[in-house]
Amino acid sequence: MILREQLITQGVSEKLLDDVEKFKAFYALTDQNLTSRVPQTETVFYGKDIWAMCISALLEEENILLSGPKATGKNVLADNICELFGRPQWNTSFHVNTDSASLIGTDTFIDNEVKLRRGSVYECAIHGGFGVFDEINMAKNDALVVLHSALDYRKIIDVPGYEKIGLHEATRFIGTMNYEYAGTKELNEALVSRFMTIDIPQIKEETLMVILKNNFADANEEMLSQFAGVFLDLQAKSRNSEISTKSVDLRGIIGSLKTIRRGLKPMLAVDMGVIGKSFDQYEKEIVLDVIRTRIRESWEAEDIFPER
Ligand SMILES: Nc1ncnc2c1ncn2[C@@H]1O[C@H](COP(=O)(O)OP(=O)(O)OP(=O)(O)O)[C@@H](O)[C@H]1O
Ligand SMILES: [Mg+2]
Repeated sequence: MILREQLITQGVSEKLLDDVEKFKAFYALTDQNLTSRVPQTETVFYGKDIWAMCISALLEEENILLSGPKATGKNVLADNICELFGRPQWNTSFHVNTDSASLIGTDTFIDNEVKLRRGSVYECAIHGGFGVFDEINMAKNDALVVLHSALDYRKIIDVPGYEKIGLHEATRFIGTMNYEYAGTKELNEALVSRFMTIDIPQIKEETLMVILKNNFADANEEMLSQFAGVFLDLQAKSRNSEISTKSVDLRGIIGSLKTIRRGLKPMLAVDMGVIGKSFDQYEKEIVLDVIRTRIRESWEAEDIFPER
């Protein structure tokens, strides 16, 4: 099913999606180098309110900042958005050594002349791309000041010594951040002010089953709900401060189910996908106790995936 249809099924407003179609048609891509940058993803982000927030903000020329706990689908959503709007994506992973040169460009000698070797933000801006600033709060705030003029009403990139560049009208920026990870910095107020911020909440029970069923349509549903249960039980324990958030990891649950589908014994799979996420012996024991109430040692891959 195409993305638009899936979003209608989720309950996203058709009117909003029609407006996206108009945007897409108005800025239609012709250059193969650009169309090849439009992501095509199998997984579709599930969450109609978040979709509505993202789409309306982007149509109104706003930039968006997706913030939330780990494995809540922020990158999946960012990719889906580019695909829905039919825009080429430039993805930049931010880290402590990200500096303005790596974003905008660096001086290089070409034919005895100093020229700018364009960085990802520069390329994105002139081609009307959707720039994904991944883990934006990993970078030092000083490095990001150079983005301010690109992110507000001025819509320009100002590189000292070069001409000012105006952003292509279709350009948007999507930041993702996880405020729990080690090494993250408090984002500067001036930077945050330039985004509409969208809080992606921790996954809830109903959403979880939909995501798992979408990913594993060939699994026994009752068994899938046990895996969902493992996640939810661990989430509850973490909320009560009995364990850390390390093992509360949807990515790990999905990874476990994939290896089970491949034929691995369920207990071995969750050992890798869930228990192994914690490196504290005491915590591991608690996690294992939770898992034992849901997943039997004797289960084989065929118990979960009958058609294997
Ligand atoms: N709402 C959701 N809809 C669809 N898939 C989801 C959703 N939430 C989580 N997932 C699944 O969780 C996994 C992780 O997604 P993703 O990499 O986008 O997370 P993230 O929020 O960027 O995490 P991190 O903060 O660790 O970078 C993917 O397999 C994705 O399909
Ligand atoms: Mg991510």
